[in-house]
Amino acid sequence: MLVLGVESSCDETGVALYDSTRGLLAHALYSQIAMHNEYGGVVPELASRDHIQRILPLTRQVFGESGCTLADLDGIAYTQGPGLAGALLVGAGMARALAFALDIPAVGVHHLEGHMLSPLISDTPPAFPFVALLVSGGHTQLMLVSGVGRYALLGETLDDAAGEAFDKTAQLLGLGYPGGPALSTLAATGDATRFSLPRPMLNSGDFDFSFSGLKTAVLTLVRKEGLEHAADIAAAFQVAAVEVLVRKSLAACRQSGATRLVVAGGVGANSHLRERLTGDAAKRGITVFYPRMEFCTDNGAMIAFAGVQRMVHAQKDLGFAVRPRWDLATLEAV
Ligand code: KG4
Ligand code: ZN
Repeated sequence: MLVLGVESSCDETGVALYDSTRGLLAHALYSQIAMHNEYGGVVPELASRDHIQRILPLTRQVFGESGCTLADLDGIAYTQGPGLAGALLVGAGMARALAFALDIPAVGVHHLEGHMLSPLISDTPPAFPFVALLVSGGHTQLMLVSGVGRYALLGETLDDAAGEAFDKTAQLLGLGYPGGPALSTLAATGDATRFSLPRPMLNSGDFDFSFSGLKTAVLTLVRKEGLEHAADIAAAFQVAAVEVLVRKSLAACRQSGATRLVVAGGVGANSHLRERLTGDAAKRGITVFYPRMEFCTDNGAMIAFAGVQRMVHAQKDLGFAVRPRWDLATLEAV
């Protein structure tokens, strides 16, 4: 079964072709980061307009690279939510129109399900069940995953998402948008022991997170110290945020008895998180699975893959709606 995947929920247009037997055939991505950087964050209307410009050329590109034609398609998967409504509508409108014209099914995919299943796009995918740490720009959740669509929420952030905390801290340090990668690069040159920052909710006894206090602590520190020691502040922030993520993820594995941990979402690209998590997990007999580096952040491949999993059960309905707010725990098992 050959499925076209379309992602347009935020500031990346991603398109991919995934075949249920041959695997990933092609994927293409356009990032709007440079455009939004000027404004210090994503401007929704500009994002929507840019998706409109990119989506068809990227689609032609993946067909060209894979050697497939429209006639080979068995279905189309698109990100239905959560995300920016106008941006979602670009991908959803294109996917539904194309599916209607070709008389093939289209399926709306949950963006976080795409992220969460992205480590399965691999020659050595994790078996179910596993604990998933979802750390993106908009979400931070720990889920117990026992199959496609079988997701139990173990805990989540009560305020800022992990990626949002990286971005806001980076902004305080004058690093631009999105700040996660830049902060991580700066932190690598800093001394993480010069300053000590709080580890919010580390000992709360549950699997919830809170990152807004950490960001405020950075703000207080920057006001006191200025930016002379920006690299040390970046390193102190990164160590604090990562420690909470690692400890809670491993505690979630312990409590649920899972021996596999999957990390997905943009912050999963953070090298300090990867080092700490892989090292600490190994000591406890837990194996950690990451998506390919390029599939940590938003992409079409994860949507095509999740679409293939769901396509078998997809309804061939011709109406559609996007879901800017959508709770992952409400999905139905396949
Ligand atoms: O999953 P994603 O592409 O978008 C959402 O669905 O939200 O995640 C983007 C987030 C941003 O907050 C970005 O700063 C963060 O992931 N990020 C990183 C790194 N690369 C991306 N955070 C820390 N370290 C990184 N290397
Ligand atoms: Zn995402």
